[in-house]
Amino acid sequence: MEKKQLTIDYCEYASLEAMPAADRELMQRAIEATDTAYAPYSHFHVGAAVRLADGTIVTGSNQENIAYPSGLCAERTALFSAAAQHPHQAVAALAVVGRDAEGRLVEASPCGACRQVMAECEARHGHPIELFCYLQGGKIRRIIGVDSLLPFAFGAELG
Ligand code: THU
Repeated sequence: MEKKQLTIDYCEYASLEAMPAADRELMQRAIEATDTAYAPYSHFHVGAAVRLADGTIVTGSNQENIAYPSGLCAERTALFSAAAQHPHQAVAALAVVGRDAEGRLVEASPCGACRQVMAECEARHGHPIELFCYLQGGKIRRIIGVDSLLPFAFGAELG
């Protein structure tokens, strides 16, 4: 048996202000998108913003449903909306942030299903996605490429 190990590279910005202007704008659009969330069941409002290769920004928010599994996360709402409107544009970056029932910004990180969709976006366009997650206390985590988020993903061998 051969023992192997994976390492994940990521970095953190101390605050929104510490981010490069274009990435800060993307996160700000994600923050604005929390206002469009429909979350009467969880009261957890999530905003996401996708930046395409040509610089276009498409936003999304979580959309819940009384039949719970029918709802959709903010990340997939944004990614699918971007793909539907701009099918030939690669996804360059995705920013995500949560807002709690009291209106405070809180940490959000893509769920497994959203990571699987990110993996297919990358494979489809042959372009890694730069992910920005708002963290508790106002830091921002930056991770490049779905390999670091979903190692050994289903379908990776097909891409
Ligand atoms: N949610 C997202 O939209 N994105 C995430 O990254 C985590 C979870 C949504 C799904 C559901 O509407 C609510 O947050 C609670 O899980």
